[in-house]
Amino acid sequence: MVTRLTLCLALLVTAGARAPIAARQAPPTPAEIDRLVVASEPQLIEWRRHLHQHPELSNREVETAKYVAEQLRSFGLDPQTGIARTGVVAVLKGALPGPVVALRADMDGLPVREETDVPFASTATGEYQGNTVGVMHACGHDTHVAMLLAAAKVLTQMKDRLPGTVKFIFQPAEEGAPAGEAPAGAFAMVGAGVMQNPKVDAVFGLHVFANVPTGTITYRSGPLMAASDSFEITVKGRQTHGATPWRGIDPIVVGSQIVMGLQTIVSRGVDITALPAIVTVGQFQAGVRNNIIPDSARLVGTIRTFDDAVQADIHAKVRRIVEGIAAAAGTTAQVVINKGYPVTKNDPALTARMLPTLERVAPGAVKESELVTGAEDFTYFQREAPGVFVFLGITPPAQVGKAPQNHSPLFVVDEKALPTGVRALVHLAVDYLSGRR
Ligand code: NI
Repeated sequence: MVTRLTLCLALLVTAGARAPIAARQAPPTPAEIDRLVVASEPQLIEWRRHLHQHPELSNREVETAKYVAEQLRSFGLDPQTGIARTGVVAVLKGALPGPVVALRADMDGLPVREETDVPFASTATGEYQGNTVGVMHACGHDTHVAMLLAAAKVLTQMKDRLPGTVKFIFQPAEEGAPAGEAPAGAFAMVGAGVMQNPKVDAVFGLHVFANVPTGTITYRSGPLMAASDSFEITVKGRQTHGATPWRGIDPIVVGSQIVMGLQTIVSRGVDITALPAIVTVGQFQAGVRNNIIPDSARLVGTIRTFDDAVQADIHAKVRRIVEGIAAAAGTTAQVVINKGYPVTKNDPALTARMLPTLERVAPGAVKESELVTGAEDFTYFQREAPGVFVFLGITPPAQVGKAPQNHSPLFVVDEKALPTGVRALVHLAVDYLSGRR
């Protein structure tokens, strides 16, 4: 960083009358970036509304990807399409040498029927688990795509003065691949090599968040979003008449003991002074009528953790408790744990380095985020290169605390926040590349 600054100063001094050339070679100033972002705003809103009106489900973002590629081409970029099914990646090579930074957006909508009254509300449908369902950008991924497109446009306009390379990553299926399809989204994009060639040195992403005031950016160093694993427990019983329970083994009673046993994992077995954790049973299915003790019971749930060691420990405790309680009842139970997205962890050094950038983008409106027990697959990019993921508030201050959350059919985005998101992405990229603080 110091070297580059010295070099720039030297150029300015020795160039003398040719100072404009040196100025042209200096990285774009924050004010120049902001002017270009303002100029991009009409398109930003147009893109966002188009995408909002035409959402597609995970791994089905065919038209979205076409639209993204079309816009990128109109900026003069040469996007690669069809990565990990519908992913789109474009590489912008700045005229000056420097590192490689990646900016990421997710493109998928959700199987939610929109109930808002915005004029560009979605009436789209799609197929989900064998049913035709309404589809909505209920998590704001339409805004992520639009903001990254605007960032790509702005950065392309300053290409001649960019010290390094920017990779724009538009990924499918952040909400997860449809049942039966191979792991998708960020995991598959990383597998397809998007963090290589050129190798990415740092990666940034953002997510809109309801009930955070419009334009506020929240960040957190270290663990930010939880690892999310699911489990399925099958308790083996022995069927008998409900009036003669002693002749069988009641899997509902055993399952109930298991539900209570699982409650002790977090309350008695996790060091809550370090990081929290969650074990939730969300489904308990057994039996068909009042006087039949069934053959089996099925419990399905989720585990959320913020640390790999705690995660492994909880998985072991779930197995031990389930198997122990079943054995005490003279039966067995099977436990299947499916690992979901790992914990989303912001690189502490990179977070500290980029914090002044965020504070410049949103003066007085940068706050530390609480831990978020939701999950996010941005983490797979962060496992390849240091990364920072931040949240952007999209709720007018007067409505904070009352607005429908992400994933609600009534989820709305205050579009006034979007230019702040674009500025965050561009300033993060330029500051990282130029070593500016
Ligand atoms: Ni989301």
